[in-house]
Amino acid sequence: MPDNLSQPILEVKDLKKHYPVIKGFSRRLVGFTKAVDGISFAVPAGQTLGLVGESGCGKSTAGHCIMRGIEPTSGQVIFYDRTRGPVDVVQASPDMLRHLRLNMQMVFQDPSSSLNPRMTLLDIVSEPLIVNNVARGKELQDRVADLLRVVGLLPEHMHRFPHAFSGGQRQRIAVARSLALRPQFIIADEPVSALDVSIQAQTLNLLQDLQEQFDLSYLFISHDLSVVEHVSDIVAVMYVGKLVEMAETETLYHNPLHPYTEALLSSVPNPDPDAVKNRIVLVGEVPSSSKPPSGCYFHPRCRYAKPECSQEAPALREVAPGHVVACHFAETLALRGVTAVRI
Ligand SMILES: Nc1ncnc2c1ncn2[C@@H]1O[C@H](COP(=O)(O)OP(=O)(O)O)[C@@H](O)[C@H]1O
Ligand SMILES: [Mg+2]
Repeated sequence: MPDNLSQPILEVKDLKKHYPVIKGFSRRLVGFTKAVDGISFAVPAGQTLGLVGESGCGKSTAGHCIMRGIEPTSGQVIFYDRTRGPVDVVQASPDMLRHLRLNMQMVFQDPSSSLNPRMTLLDIVSEPLIVNNVARGKELQDRVADLLRVVGLLPEHMHRFPHAFSGGQRQRIAVARSLALRPQFIIADEPVSALDVSIQAQTLNLLQDLQEQFDLSYLFISHDLSVVEHVSDIVAVMYVGKLVEMAETETLYHNPLHPYTEALLSSVPNPDPDAVKNRIVLVGEVPSSSKPPSGCYFHPRCRYAKPECSQEAPALREVAPGHVVACHFAETLALRGVTAVRI
């Protein structure tokens, strides 16, 4: 159960990433793709915040901006570093960034493309330790053996290459590497989306075990609400660069207040035949963040939309402690959450 009094490890404040849109021969600036457009949230220490939304909503851009892999346009990312205290990642000097990268790591969707096929497990997992001068020689090998054990791989396989392993095992290699420097915080961007469903659960369990063992905090990015539910303490729902709803996981799943959240929840696998029959099909696609609709960005796809929804953009507001939503009619809609026992 999340403890609201717990210290944050990360606070994201009004984070924006706007890409200029250039047209034609004269390279005229015609607008901006607002991939991330003013999102704010806090990840409590030792907990997981799940960031969800359909593909194209800006989740990965947000993740990269938090790591400064991409330069944010504006906003603050306060990271509570274990030795340096609170640091704004957005303003951090190159030296400070190098230090922060020891404590903040990222794990990606497709381990096959993030692992160099010409490097052995030993090379892959030991690289961050060598680059940062943490260990060498026998100690290095011992550290790698420990890390492989921790993620459920056999240390005697450290001289093999990634292709000798399955997708799930490769994701474990990537996780071992991300743990090498004992980070405080990991951003996992769709870490199980490329894996078979049977392997997904194992990998999620591993990430949860590691969280306890190493007191890790996670930002867990996924387009799939059923994946995020089991690992998240708080869930934030993103649509066209903005947050539309955020709450503690149980509250969000049982009592969603935004029609977009309701629609995403209704596509979560559910053994209840009524739920299947009443599934809400989201028509159309996520609008481009360079040309979003007027008013509420969700209104063209919203089954409850009223005339004012196309005119005025709803502000994100707190409707109950810790529960924020951006919908004009959040209080009057009776939305359906997930009630039945799921598979
Ligand atoms: N380098 C870029 N230049 C211009 N637009 C971009 C760039 N990177 C991402 N975008 C746009 O930003 C939006 C969000 O993308 P992304 O963060 O990858 O979404 P998600 O991870 O939720 O699928 C998309 O509309 C995408 O086309
Ligand atoms: Mg993405």
